[in-house]
Amino acid sequence: MNLDKLRQCVSKAGQSHVLQSWDELSEIQRSHLLEELKGLDCLQLNGFFRRAMDAFSASSTQEKVDARMEAVPQEVLGSVTRDQQHLQQWEAQGFNQIADGKVAVLLLAGGQGTRLGVSYPKGMYDVGLPSHKSLFQIQAERILKLQRLAKERHGKDCIIPWYIMTSGRTMESTRDFFQKYCYFGLEEQNIILFQQGMLPAMSFEGKILMEEKGKLSMAPDGNGGLYRALGTHGVLQDMEKRGIEYIHVYCVDNILVKVADPVFIGFCVNKEADCGAKVVEKMNPTEPVGVVCRVDGVYQVVEYSEITLATAQKRSTDGRLMYNAGNIANHFFTRRFLQQVVEVHEPQLQHHVAVKKIPYVDTQGLLIHPDKPNGIKMEKFVFDIFQFAKKFVVFEVLREEEFSPLKNADSQNGKDNPSTARYALMSLHHCWVLNAGGHFVDENGTHIPAIPLMKDAGDVPIQCEISPLVSYAGEGLETYVKNKEFHAPLTIDEDGIHQLVKNGL
Ligand code: UTP
Repeated sequence: MNLDKLRQCVSKAGQSHVLQSWDELSEIQRSHLLEELKGLDCLQLNGFFRRAMDAFSASSTQEKVDARMEAVPQEVLGSVTRDQQHLQQWEAQGFNQIADGKVAVLLLAGGQGTRLGVSYPKGMYDVGLPSHKSLFQIQAERILKLQRLAKERHGKDCIIPWYIMTSGRTMESTRDFFQKYCYFGLEEQNIILFQQGMLPAMSFEGKILMEEKGKLSMAPDGNGGLYRALGTHGVLQDMEKRGIEYIHVYCVDNILVKVADPVFIGFCVNKEADCGAKVVEKMNPTEPVGVVCRVDGVYQVVEYSEITLATAQKRSTDGRLMYNAGNIANHFFTRRFLQQVVEVHEPQLQHHVAVKKIPYVDTQGLLIHPDKPNGIKMEKFVFDIFQFAKKFVVFEVLREEEFSPLKNADSQNGKDNPSTARYALMSLHHCWVLNAGGHFVDENGTHIPAIPLMKDAGDVPIQCEISPLVSYAGEGLETYVKNKEFHAPLTIDEDGIHQLVKNGL
């Protein structure tokens, strides 16, 4: 498309201002801007904006959804604590599927990590474990270990392909990082990077905001941008070619994530589900977490702001919160279901509005950092497709074993930051050592209690890190730790135990 044609298009869409500084731009800036605009259908963008804003305004005047809401019914619910008699069977079923090469994992890693405040992809972050492994490395090693465990059980090599959704802002550095670390022992051809779409940030009046004179302010279109990207990049065809039937989708920032968890896969396959959500129990009525439930008979995630406090406080006869299925963005999908979503439902999915303070250049070309919200970003969410499932199931797991997200920088607040992520992993690994018959002792040789006393705010849990290559979920540790005493810090990796073993008991 030439410049004149482009001018006509943007003008027809009421977005002529994006070219107003054209004459002042260098050749390079011009060609970048042309590229950006060629990839954008401004009329379609205006349509996205209108629909998203209409829904957003309606939601602020609409009644809360309380009266239309139902908790997840028992028959679709599985639980690691209440269904212990089935766990082995589900795990075996999951391993069957993995060994048959039918399971893939799909990582959502296109976010900008604004709250964490680093300029590189969150998966590259080192939360300060003794090994200094990045989140990507931890996940890669869990995949490797699962492949090995499946081989031990079934006697055949198997591959769990790893699809990684990045965005325009994270693609290159993610690719370089994996290259630099030789794909963490996985095979390059089984790590498939693809890019999600980006959309311009818009003013409240529907005008595209400019980051620089010749550059639109672009942001990834939310983790639900996955479904469009799956179609655009032929990802599902690649899965089909590889024989993949089941996909585990998860977020990059959960340090405890059990990638391709065989128990979860087995549970979902056993229930013949096309869509499943892993959840953790919501801790208290005001915890700001979305809950999985039904609204007008259809599954969805309801945010805390969409219900009244009275509903959030409701309890079932067992004393637990009635709406307690806390969403952790950890999902199971069949490939066929995703195919249908991409082909039929994706275009109907509406963008959600995120009101933000967005830096922009004004008509004089001055960069403004607004001190109050001045526009919106438009995003789809990965859970927007629950409504289309024919058989939806929910699997409840323990937060301390499976969920500790990295959202904030340490300095920001005490929640979901590098320290809480590091402590969550080390506390879990401490428990694994105890469960396998090991003990920690203090400097006097006295056993440290299983639940160490945290006296001061500055106290930290026992430093203990076990490589995923040694244990995926706490299994197989007896040979390393049974009847042994350890001083923290303790690390166990494929080369063995890195710690003074005091003596056998
Ligand atoms: P968050 O919503 O927590 O966003 O993403 P974020 O980008 O990590 O952090 P903030 O909000 O900017 O501070 C949850 C998961 O969804 C992915 C993220 O990479 C993370 O795994 N995500 C988010 C995408 O893949 N694409 C997006 O457009 C947004």
